[in-house]
Amino acid sequence: MITHKKLDNNYEYIEIKNNQAEAKIALQGAHIFHYKAKNRPALLWLSETSFFKEGKAIRGGIPICFPWFGPHKTDASLPQHGFARTALWEVVLEEELDENSSHVQLQLTSDEESLKLWEYKFDVRLDIVVSSELTVTLTVTNTDTKAFEFTSALHSYFNVSDITNVSVEGLDGSNYIDSLTDKTYIQKGSLSISEEVDRVYFDSSNSIKLHDKSNTIHLKQKGSNSLVVWNPWIEKAKKMVDMPDDGYKTMLCLETGNIGEDKIILKPKEVHLLEVIISSRL
Ligand code: BG6
Repeated sequence: MITHKKLDNNYEYIEIKNNQAEAKIALQGAHIFHYKAKNRPALLWLSETSFFKEGKAIRGGIPICFPWFGPHKTDASLPQHGFARTALWEVVLEEELDENSSHVQLQLTSDEESLKLWEYKFDVRLDIVVSSELTVTLTVTNTDTKAFEFTSALHSYFNVSDITNVSVEGLDGSNYIDSLTDKTYIQKGSLSISEEVDRVYFDSSNSIKLHDKSNTIHLKQKGSNSLVVWNPWIEKAKKMVDMPDDGYKTMLCLETGNIGEDKIILKPKEVHLLEVIISSRL
């Protein structure tokens, strides 16, 4: 069942329930903020103190970063992670594929407001398939008459039992930029977290595993050569108004993207697909 719902402040979202899974998707940002497969724990971390408010991104779930990731390259006054995560998307398709899977497509196209922030015409679709796995596909089409360049991410926040229990597999041998120092390193083995981490990994495996105490979250990625690993740790979590002080303990972001040198250049009419398929397994 696919149902349109509203919070008291008119904040709109879609609720999906089928035989295999459930999900919630805000129209602002095409932001998936809940996904749970049958008999599995809720997969996406959501801050207890997140805003659900016009113009504010949800802290948790899967924010969509487009047309730039992080701060804007030349103008710090422009919104961090682009404008797509706080723009109102339009639902263009909703269908029950069968009793186990539901498909929703949301669309964002350039308009007068977006052209003030980014001078290009575009058509972006987010396809979400809610089933025993969660499939998220961001399709960017250049509808302009000139080429454009963009960076992007499916900025996924995952629930973990305790950050000290987890390790990330699939990064061994990858180069990464440590965004805290701007230095480049090579990852050796799997990654455990015991301090603030903010890194962009390049050319990692398309298959990433987030091992936790009693389950493993699998990510299958397409169209991406960069993956951000982020945990704000103690001090940064304290400074964030929309994250509880101890919020960092139960989350880890693994963000499938096209970031930095992995930017995408599209000529008019060209299309780029960025996809992640996420599942939680024993
Ligand atoms: C991560 C970045 O993707 O997002 C971090 O690598 C950033 O540097 C984090 O702090 C959260 O960003 P925001 O804009 O949601 O607070």
